[in-house]
Amino acid sequence: MRKPVMAGNWKMYKTPAETLAFFEKFRPLAGNAAHCEVVICPPFTNLFAAVEAAKGTAIRIGAQNIGWAKEGAFTGEVSGSMIQATGATHALVGHSERRQYFAESDETVLKRSQAALEIGLTPIVCVGERLDEREGGRTESVLTQQFQNGIAGLTEQQFARIVIAYEPVWAIGTGKTATPEIAADAHRVIRGLVRAKFGKGAGDAIRILYGGSVKPDNVKSLMAQPEIDGVLVGGASLDPAGFASIVNF
Ligand code: PGA
Repeated sequence: MRKPVMAGNWKMYKTPAETLAFFEKFRPLAGNAAHCEVVICPPFTNLFAAVEAAKGTAIRIGAQNIGWAKEGAFTGEVSGSMIQATGATHALVGHSERRQYFAESDETVLKRSQAALEIGLTPIVCVGERLDEREGGRTESVLTQQFQNGIAGLTEQQFARIVIAYEPVWAIGTGKTATPEIAADAHRVIRGLVRAKFGKGAGDAIRILYGGSVKPDNVKSLMAQPEIDGVLVGGASLDPAGFASIVNF
């Protein structure tokens, strides 16, 4: 059985003080959920505060990106060892907002994923098609391309330690959730690519999260799909009670 991962992506929201206030409320509601792994990804500047606030609970903390170099002249980047030193355990990689606004490519997604794995962090690697790609009937070819040019460059041992998030770009922050069936179809495509590249065992074991306008009132129907192994939640992860009800679906 694949243990669900319920992950929150805070994007560019919350100060350290707001982070502490979130955890005060969130911890008693979902701090020791045993049916799933809970991962919260605040901005870099809140990683320390979040790790401190999550101590003594099962909540894990992740970064929203990770530099591919160990260190060096890379203004604005944060390396894996820096992230790890805060006590964080995960890193999002290749989120569509990074691809859209900051020119992330499948190639940098691979390099960032490798950097995370080298230092022992779990990358949550994001893939997903844009609206024009879906409407043009290209969803499967886009997912295939993102997989082949990014994730497929990992070794089998590396692949065994990642999580994949399927986030259709048209569903992010728009209130337009993919139906559970549409999401499950895309997950089957991705799992098929995994089986073909890394074998049946890897395909059975890989956890594929769905992301895009997940809310307390639609999480249950999404999680009812056997293909969906968890969720990556943006807007609705900012509210402690709301995110707790998603975690405890
Ligand atoms: P959303 O964002 O839940 O606000 O749609 C999801 C994401 O970007 O990870």
